[in-house]
Amino acid sequence: MDYDRYDHIRAVQWRGDHLHLLDQRRLPQEECWLDCRQAADVVQAIRELAVRGAPAIGIAAAWGVVLAGRSGTDMDTALADLRAARPTAVNLMWALDRMRARHAAGADAAALAAEAQAIQDEDLAANRHMGELGAALIASGSGVLTHCNTGSLATAGFGTALGVIRAGVAQGRIAQVYAGETRPWQQGARLTMYELVRDGIAARLIADSAAAHLMKTGAVQWVIVGADRIAANGDTANKIGTYQLAIAAKYHGVKFMVVAPSSTVDMATASGDAIAIEMRDPEELFSIAGKRVVVAGAQAWNPVFDVTPAALIDAIVTERGVIERPTAQAMQAAFRA
Ligand code: MRU
Repeated sequence: MDYDRYDHIRAVQWRGDHLHLLDQRRLPQEECWLDCRQAADVVQAIRELAVRGAPAIGIAAAWGVVLAGRSGTDMDTALADLRAARPTAVNLMWALDRMRARHAAGADAAALAAEAQAIQDEDLAANRHMGELGAALIASGSGVLTHCNTGSLATAGFGTALGVIRAGVAQGRIAQVYAGETRPWQQGARLTMYELVRDGIAARLIADSAAAHLMKTGAVQWVIVGADRIAANGDTANKIGTYQLAIAAKYHGVKFMVVAPSSTVDMATASGDAIAIEMRDPEELFSIAGKRVVVAGAQAWNPVFDVTPAALIDAIVTERGVIERPTAQAMQAAFRA
C-alpha cells in the first residue's frame, strides 16, 4: 500500500502546547487552520463542525482534556462540556472515558498527552487494518458508492469506509467510486471529493437523490459507509441518508458494508432505537454556501444522523475482524467486554 499517495492528510495535529485543526467548514475553497489553546476551544470546534467525523472528534476531545490539564481548568467541567459537544458519535464518549480514567489514576500532563497520542495512533493503525479487511470482500472491477466523509479528515488518517475504498482502488478491486453530496453540510461534495481528487482516484459526485437510480443501472456492487455508533445488535447510526441507501441497496441486490473502529461499537446500547440522534438548527437547510435559497417563513426538520437496521447490513468491518450479516450474538462474540 502506497501510504504516501493514499494517506497524507492530517487534520488533527498536536503541536506540543496547542491543538492545530484543519477547519473543515472552509474546505475545499480554503485550507485554514484553527489553534485550540483551551478545552473550550475544542468544544466549540466540535460543536460547529470545524472538526467532524466520529473518530476525529474523539481524538480532538482527548487533546481537549490535555489542554484542560495544562491550563488548570476544572477537569469535571471540561469532561462534561466536551462530552456534551455532540450526542451521536460514541467515539467522543469512549475517548473521554479513557482520558477520565487516566486522570483519575493520577496521570500528570505528560501521561495525559501520551494517552491522547495513543488514542490517535491506535485509530490510524485500526484504519489501515480495516482497509485490508474490507477491500478483501470486494470483487475485482467493482463500483462502489460512499456517503458523507469517512476519510483522513474524519479520522487520525487513511479513513474507515474511505480507507477500504483507498485499499480497494490500490488493489485494483474498485474501478469506479461514487460519492453522494451529503446535504446539508456537503461532506461528500466538499470533503470526500477533495480527498479522492488529491489521491488521484477516479470518482464521480452524485446528488443524494441519484443513489437509487445509480444502483438500478448496475454501476455499483457495494455501498461502503462509516458509522457514528454501532449498537449491541449491529444497528448502525451514521450520517442522515445512510438508511435510505441501505434500503435501496437491498432492493437492488447491492451489498452494504459498514466500516468503523471498535471505538464506535457501543455494547451498552441494546439497539438503534436507543441511539440519540443529533438535531441541528433548521437554518442549515435554508441556505446553500451561505446564500439563503428558501422562502422566508419556511420551517424545516434537520436530523443529521439516522439508524440503519442490522438486517440491511452485509458486513461490519472493525479492526478486530469482519462480522457478516451482523446479529446480537455475533456482536456479543466479537465485542464482549
Ligand atoms: O456530522 P459529521 O460530519 O461528523 O458526520 C460524520 C459521519 O456521519 C461519518 O460517516 C462517521 O462519523 C464516520 S467518520 C469515519
